[in-house]
Amino acid sequence: MQGLSDILLDWYDRNARTMPWRVSPKDRKAGQRPDPYRVWLSEVMLQQTTVAAVRDYFLRFTTRWPTVADLAAAADADVMAAWAGLGYYARARNLLKCARAVVADHGGSFPDSREGLMTLPGIGPYTASAVAAIAFDEPAVVVDGNVERVMARLYDVHTPLPTAKQELTALAANLTPGQRPGDYAQAVMDLGATICTPRSPACGICPWRSPCKARVEGTAAILPAKLPKKVKPIRHGIAYVARRIDGAYLLETRPDSGLLGGMLGWPGSDWGDAPAEAPPIRAEWKDAGEARHTFTHFHLRLTVRTALVPLDRKPARGTFVSPEDFRPADLPTLMRKAFDVTRSGK
Ligand code: ADE
Repeated sequence: MQGLSDILLDWYDRNARTMPWRVSPKDRKAGQRPDPYRVWLSEVMLQQTTVAAVRDYFLRFTTRWPTVADLAAAADADVMAAWAGLGYYARARNLLKCARAVVADHGGSFPDSREGLMTLPGIGPYTASAVAAIAFDEPAVVVDGNVERVMARLYDVHTPLPTAKQELTALAANLTPGQRPGDYAQAVMDLGATICTPRSPACGICPWRSPCKARVEGTAAILPAKLPKKVKPIRHGIAYVARRIDGAYLLETRPDSGLLGGMLGWPGSDWGDAPAEAPPIRAEWKDAGEARHTFTHFHLRLTVRTALVPLDRKPARGTFVSPEDFRPADLPTLMRKAFDVTRSGK
Protein backbone atom coordinates (compact mmCIF):
# COMPACT_ATOMS: atom_id res chain seq x y z
CA MET A 1 0.00 0.00 0.00
CA GLN A 2 1.18 3.48 -0.80
CA GLY A 3 2.02 5.31 2.43
CA LEU A 4 0.18 8.43 3.53
CA SER A 5 3.19 10.66 2.89
CA ASP A 6 3.59 9.32 -0.66
CA ILE A 7 -0.05 10.04 -1.43
CA LEU A 8 0.40 13.61 -0.25
CA LEU A 9 3.68 14.09 -2.12
CA ASP A 10 1.97 12.94 -5.34
CA TRP A 11 -0.74 15.48 -4.73
CA TYR A 12 1.89 18.18 -4.03
CA ASP A 13 3.70 17.37 -7.29
CA ARG A 14 0.50 18.30 -9.12
CA ASN A 15 -0.86 21.05 -6.87
CA ALA A 16 2.01 22.88 -5.11
CA ARG A 17 1.25 26.55 -4.82
CA THR A 18 3.69 28.93 -6.44
CA MET A 19 5.37 31.19 -3.92
CA PRO A 20 8.28 33.57 -4.38
CA TRP A 21 10.42 31.75 -1.79
CA ARG A 22 9.55 28.26 -2.91
CA VAL A 23 11.42 25.87 -5.21
CA SER A 24 8.74 23.90 -7.08
CA PRO A 25 8.75 20.12 -6.63
CA LYS A 26 9.78 19.78 -10.29
CA ASP A 27 12.80 22.08 -9.90
CA ARG A 28 13.65 20.45 -6.59
CA LYS A 29 13.77 17.05 -8.28
CA ALA A 30 15.98 18.55 -10.98
CA GLY A 31 18.47 19.42 -8.24
CA GLN A 32 17.64 23.05 -7.49
CA ARG A 33 18.05 23.87 -3.82
CA PRO A 34 16.13 26.54 -1.92
CA ASP A 35 18.07 29.56 -0.66
CA PRO A 36 18.12 29.20 3.16
CA TYR A 37 17.97 32.99 3.53
CA ARG A 38 14.73 33.19 1.54
CA VAL A 39 13.25 30.18 3.35
CA TRP A 40 14.10 31.65 6.74
CA LEU A 41 12.79 35.12 5.85
CA SER A 42 9.52 33.70 4.51
CA GLU A 43 8.97 31.49 7.57
CA VAL A 44 9.54 34.40 9.96
CA MET A 45 7.15 36.58 7.96
CA LEU A 46 4.53 33.82 7.71
CA GLN A 47 4.25 33.35 11.46
CA GLN A 48 0.88 34.84 12.48
CA THR A 49 0.44 36.25 8.98
CA THR A 50 -1.16 34.92 5.79
CA VAL A 51 0.64 34.07 2.57
CA ALA A 52 -1.37 36.78 0.77
CA ALA A 53 -0.22 39.46 3.23
CA VAL A 54 3.41 38.31 3.17
CA ARG A 55 4.01 38.06 -0.58
CA ASP A 56 4.65 41.78 -1.31
CA TYR A 57 6.70 42.31 1.84
CA PHE A 58 8.86 39.32 0.93
CA LEU A 59 9.47 40.65 -2.59
CA ARG A 60 10.31 44.12 -1.28
CA PHE A 61 12.72 42.74 1.34
CA THR A 62 14.54 40.43 -1.05
CA THR A 63 14.81 43.09 -3.75
CA ARG A 64 16.31 45.54 -1.30
CA TRP A 65 18.35 43.01 0.70
CA PRO A 66 19.04 40.03 -1.60
CA THR A 67 21.32 38.19 0.84
CA VAL A 68 21.55 37.73 4.59
CA ALA A 69 24.72 39.86 4.53
CA ASP A 70 22.79 42.72 2.90
CA LEU A 71 20.10 42.48 5.56
CA ALA A 72 22.68 42.30 8.35
CA ALA A 73 24.23 45.54 7.08
CA ALA A 74 20.89 47.39 6.90
CA ALA A 75 20.04 50.24 9.25
CA ASP A 76 17.60 49.20 11.99
CA ALA A 77 15.18 52.01 11.12
CA ASP A 78 15.04 50.93 7.45
CA VAL A 79 14.19 47.35 8.35
CA MET A 80 11.56 48.40 10.90
CA ALA A 81 9.99 50.74 8.33
CA ALA A 82 9.95 47.98 5.69
CA TRP A 83 8.24 45.67 8.21
CA ALA A 84 5.58 48.27 9.10
CA GLY A 85 2.11 46.79 8.69
CA LEU A 86 3.14 43.15 9.15
CA GLY A 87 2.65 43.28 12.92
CA TYR A 88 4.38 41.40 15.74
CA TYR A 89 7.33 43.73 15.53
CA ALA A 90 9.58 41.68 17.83
CA ARG A 91 9.91 39.45 14.78
CA ALA A 92 11.57 42.28 12.82
CA ARG A 93 13.98 43.09 15.64
CA ASN A 94 14.89 39.42 15.99
CA LEU A 95 15.21 39.13 12.22
CA LEU A 96 18.00 41.68 12.25
CA LYS A 97 19.70 40.09 15.27
CA CYS A 98 19.58 36.75 13.54
CA ALA A 99 20.95 38.05 10.23
CA ARG A 100 23.80 39.74 12.08
CA ALA A 101 24.59 36.55 14.03
CA VAL A 102 24.66 34.52 10.80
CA VAL A 103 27.21 36.97 9.38
CA ALA A 104 29.25 37.46 12.58
CA ASP A 105 29.29 33.88 13.85
CA HIS A 106 28.65 31.67 10.81
CA GLY A 107 30.49 33.37 7.95
CA GLY A 108 27.25 34.46 6.30
CA SER A 109 25.80 30.94 5.86
CA PHE A 110 22.88 29.61 7.87
CA PRO A 111 23.69 26.49 9.96
CA ASP A 112 22.39 23.49 8.00
CA SER A 113 20.65 21.60 10.81
CA ARG A 114 17.71 22.15 13.12
CA GLU A 115 20.05 21.99 16.10
CA GLY A 116 22.39 24.60 14.62
CA LEU A 117 19.51 26.87 13.61
CA MET A 118 18.10 26.74 17.15
CA THR A 119 21.26 28.49 18.44
CA LEU A 120 20.40 31.64 16.45
CA PRO A 121 18.52 34.54 18.05
CA GLY A 122 14.82 34.60 17.25
CA ILE A 123 14.74 31.09 15.80
CA GLY A 124 12.43 28.90 17.86
CA PRO A 125 11.43 25.25 17.41
CA TYR A 126 8.95 25.95 14.60
CA THR A 127 11.25 28.10 12.46
CA ALA A 128 14.23 25.80 13.04
CA SER A 129 12.21 22.78 11.94
CA ALA A 130 10.70 24.53 8.93
CA VAL A 131 14.04 25.88 7.66
CA ALA A 132 15.86 22.57 8.35
CA ALA A 133 13.20 20.65 6.44
CA ILE A 134 12.58 23.04 3.54
CA ALA A 135 16.11 24.38 2.98
CA PHE A 136 18.18 21.34 4.01
CA ASP A 137 15.82 18.38 3.66
CA GLU A 138 16.24 17.32 7.26
CA PRO A 139 13.27 15.16 8.33
CA ALA A 140 12.32 17.69 11.01
CA VAL A 141 8.73 17.72 12.22
CA VAL A 142 7.05 20.94 11.12
CA VAL A 143 3.86 21.80 12.98
CA ASP A 144 1.98 25.05 12.43
CA GLY A 145 -1.74 25.76 12.73
CA ASN A 146 -2.42 24.15 9.35
CA VAL A 147 -0.65 20.96 10.33
CA GLU A 148 -2.47 20.80 13.67
CA ARG A 149 -5.80 21.06 11.92
CA VAL A 150 -4.91 18.43 9.33
CA MET A 151 -3.68 15.97 11.98
CA ALA A 152 -6.69 16.55 14.25
CA ARG A 153 -8.98 15.64 11.35
CA LEU A 154 -6.96 12.82 9.83
CA TYR A 155 -6.92 11.06 13.23
CA ASP A 156 -10.20 12.49 14.58
CA VAL A 157 -8.55 13.94 17.67
CA HIS A 158 -11.11 15.74 19.86
CA THR A 159 -8.76 16.91 22.60
CA PRO A 160 -8.90 20.72 22.43
CA LEU A 161 -5.95 22.91 21.52
CA PRO A 162 -3.62 23.91 23.04
CA THR A 163 -3.79 20.75 25.20
CA ALA A 164 -3.68 18.59 22.06
CA LYS A 165 -0.43 20.12 20.80
CA GLN A 166 1.87 17.28 21.91
CA GLU A 167 -0.46 14.59 20.68
CA LEU A 168 -0.80 16.26 17.27
CA THR A 169 2.96 16.77 17.04
CA ALA A 170 3.52 13.07 17.73
CA LEU A 171 1.06 12.16 14.98
CA ALA A 172 2.78 14.57 12.58
CA ALA A 173 6.18 13.12 13.51
CA ASN A 174 4.96 9.64 12.75
CA LEU A 175 4.03 10.67 9.20
CA THR A 176 7.15 12.72 8.37
CA PRO A 177 9.03 10.82 5.66
CA GLY A 178 12.80 10.39 5.34
CA GLN A 179 12.50 11.12 1.60
CA ARG A 180 11.61 14.66 0.49
CA PRO A 181 10.82 15.96 4.00
CA GLY A 182 11.00 19.56 2.74
CA ASP A 183 8.38 19.03 0.05
CA TYR A 184 6.33 17.01 2.50
CA ALA A 185 6.32 19.83 5.10
CA GLN A 186 5.16 22.29 2.47
CA ALA A 187 2.60 19.82 1.16
CA VAL A 188 0.84 19.49 4.53
CA MET A 189 0.77 23.25 4.88
CA ASP A 190 -0.64 23.66 1.38
CA LEU A 191 -3.25 20.99 2.07
CA GLY A 192 -4.30 22.83 5.23
CA ALA A 193 -4.42 26.18 3.44
CA THR A 194 -6.28 25.10 0.31
CA ILE A 195 -8.35 21.95 1.02
CA CYS A 196 -8.39 21.14 4.73
CA THR A 197 -9.46 24.69 5.50
CA PRO A 198 -10.83 25.80 8.88
CA ARG A 199 -14.48 26.34 7.97
CA SER A 200 -15.58 24.37 4.96
CA PRO A 201 -13.01 21.74 4.09
CA ALA A 202 -13.16 20.43 0.52
CA CYS A 203 -13.09 16.78 1.58
CA GLY A 204 -14.34 15.59 -1.82
CA ILE A 205 -11.08 16.52 -3.54
CA CYS A 206 -8.71 15.77 -0.65
CA PRO A 207 -5.88 13.30 -1.41
CA TRP A 208 -6.29 11.97 2.14
CA ARG A 209 -10.11 11.61 1.95
CA SER A 210 -10.10 7.84 2.27
CA PRO A 211 -7.78 7.52 5.30
CA CYS A 212 -9.31 10.60 7.02
CA LYS A 213 -11.09 9.53 10.22
CA ALA A 214 -12.93 12.83 10.67
CA ARG A 215 -14.43 12.48 7.21
CA VAL A 216 -15.81 9.06 8.12
CA GLU A 217 -17.16 10.43 11.42
CA GLY A 218 -18.45 13.66 9.84
CA THR A 219 -16.50 15.74 12.36
CA ALA A 220 -14.04 17.53 10.07
CA ALA A 221 -15.74 20.92 10.27
CA ILE A 222 -15.69 21.01 14.10
CA LEU A 223 -12.05 19.99 14.43
CA PRO A 224 -9.65 20.94 15.83
CA ALA A 225 -11.50 21.62 19.09
CA LYS A 226 -10.22 24.70 20.88
CA LEU A 227 -10.43 25.80 24.49
CA PRO A 228 -12.47 29.00 24.77
CA LYS A 229 -10.44 32.11 24.15
CA LYS A 230 -10.00 34.61 26.97
CA VAL A 231 -12.03 37.76 26.50
CA LYS A 232 -9.69 40.62 25.63
CA PRO A 233 -9.88 43.68 27.89
CA ILE A 234 -10.21 47.18 26.45
CA ARG A 235 -7.39 49.62 27.12
CA HIS A 236 -7.33 53.33 26.40
CA GLY A 237 -4.59 55.66 25.26
CA ILE A 238 -3.97 59.10 23.79
CA ALA A 239 -1.85 59.85 20.73
CA TYR A 240 -0.66 63.34 19.86
CA VAL A 241 -0.25 64.24 16.22
CA ALA A 242 1.57 67.58 16.13
CA ARG A 243 2.19 69.31 12.84
CA ARG A 244 4.52 72.26 12.51
CA ILE A 245 3.51 75.07 10.20
CA ASP A 246 6.19 73.98 7.70
CA GLY A 247 4.36 70.64 7.42
CA ALA A 248 6.74 68.56 9.57
CA TYR A 249 5.20 65.92 11.85
CA LEU A 250 6.36 65.16 15.38
CA LEU A 251 7.24 61.46 15.57
CA GLU A 252 9.25 59.26 17.88
CA THR A 253 10.90 55.87 17.67
CA ARG A 254 9.37 53.70 20.36
CA PRO A 255 11.66 51.96 22.86
CA ASP A 256 12.92 48.56 21.67
CA SER A 257 11.13 46.66 24.40
CA GLY A 258 7.37 46.59 24.65
CA LEU A 259 4.58 46.80 22.11
CA LEU A 260 5.49 48.19 18.69
CA GLY A 261 9.07 48.26 20.02
CA GLY A 262 11.53 49.97 17.70
CA MET A 263 8.74 51.27 15.46
CA LEU A 264 8.01 54.84 14.50
CA GLY A 265 4.90 56.33 16.09
CA TRP A 266 3.05 59.33 17.45
CA PRO A 267 4.13 60.30 20.95
CA GLY A 268 1.45 59.37 23.42
CA SER A 269 0.25 58.37 26.85
CA ASP A 270 0.57 55.01 28.52
CA TRP A 271 -2.19 52.57 27.62
CA GLY A 272 -4.47 51.58 30.47
CA ASP A 273 -7.85 52.18 32.08
CA ALA A 274 -7.65 55.97 32.33
CA PRO A 275 -4.35 57.22 30.94
CA ALA A 276 -2.94 60.58 32.03
CA GLU A 277 -2.38 63.26 29.40
CA ALA A 278 1.20 63.25 28.11
CA PRO A 279 1.48 65.91 25.38
CA PRO A 280 4.96 65.89 23.82
CA ILE A 281 4.90 69.63 23.09
CA ARG A 282 3.03 72.67 24.36
CA ALA A 283 0.08 73.29 22.05
CA GLU A 284 -3.65 73.77 21.79
CA TRP A 285 -4.76 70.20 21.30
CA LYS A 286 -7.97 69.36 19.49
CA ASP A 287 -9.77 66.04 19.52
CA ALA A 288 -9.67 64.40 16.09
CA GLY A 289 -11.41 61.13 16.91
CA GLU A 290 -10.51 57.61 17.91
CA ALA A 291 -8.41 54.85 16.37
CA ARG A 292 -9.20 51.25 17.32
CA HIS A 293 -6.80 48.38 17.09
CA THR A 294 -6.61 44.87 18.51
CA PHE A 295 -3.38 43.43 19.87
CA THR A 296 -2.81 39.83 20.94
CA HIS A 297 -3.98 40.43 24.51
CA PHE A 298 -6.21 43.52 24.43
CA HIS A 299 -8.26 45.94 22.36
CA LEU A 300 -6.95 49.49 22.26
CA ARG A 301 -9.02 52.64 21.88
CA LEU A 302 -6.68 55.45 21.05
CA THR A 303 -7.92 59.02 21.37
CA VAL A 304 -6.17 61.10 18.74
CA ARG A 305 -5.39 64.75 19.39
CA THR A 306 -3.95 67.14 16.86
CA ALA A 307 -2.28 70.52 17.04
CA LEU A 308 -0.54 72.98 14.78
CA VAL A 309 2.65 74.37 16.34
CA PRO A 310 4.96 77.24 15.45
CA LEU A 311 8.39 76.71 13.89
CA ASP A 312 10.42 77.63 16.96
CA ARG A 313 8.57 75.48 19.51
CA LYS A 314 10.77 72.71 20.96
CA PRO A 315 9.24 69.32 21.73
CA ALA A 316 9.81 67.54 25.03
CA ARG A 317 9.78 64.22 23.16
CA GLY A 318 10.19 63.10 19.58
CA THR A 319 11.63 64.65 16.46
CA PHE A 320 10.02 66.67 13.69
CA VAL A 321 10.11 64.82 10.37
CA SER A 322 9.82 66.89 7.19
CA PRO A 323 6.97 66.11 4.78
CA GLU A 324 9.49 64.78 2.21
CA ASP A 325 10.85 62.27 4.73
CA PHE A 326 7.51 61.26 6.22
CA ARG A 327 5.98 58.13 4.72
CA PRO A 328 2.78 56.92 6.40
CA ALA A 329 3.66 53.44 5.09
CA ASP A 330 6.60 53.36 7.54
CA LEU A 331 4.15 53.44 10.46
CA PRO A 332 2.79 50.32 12.16
CA THR A 333 -0.92 49.82 11.52
CA LEU A 334 -2.15 51.40 14.78
CA MET A 335 -0.16 54.59 14.15
CA ARG A 336 -1.30 54.63 10.56
CA LYS A 337 -4.92 54.41 11.73
CA ALA A 338 -4.29 57.33 14.11
CA PHE A 339 -2.88 59.33 11.21
CA ASP A 340 -5.91 58.51 9.06
CA VAL A 341 -8.18 59.77 11.86
CA THR A 342 -6.48 63.18 11.65
CA ARG A 343 -7.16 63.38 7.94
CA SER A 344 -10.75 62.15 7.78
CA GLY A 345 -13.27 64.92 7.60
CA LYS A 346 -10.69 67.35 6.27
N1 ADE B 1 2.95 28.66 5.92
C1 ADE B 1 4.08 28.83 6.61
N2 ADE B 1 5.14 28.35 5.94
C2 ADE B 1 4.64 27.87 4.76
C3 ADE B 1 5.22 27.25 3.65
N3 ADE B 1 6.52 27.03 3.61
N4 ADE B 1 4.42 26.86 2.64
C4 ADE B 1 3.10 27.10 2.73
N5 ADE B 1 2.49 27.70 3.73
C5 ADE B 1 3.26 28.08 4.76
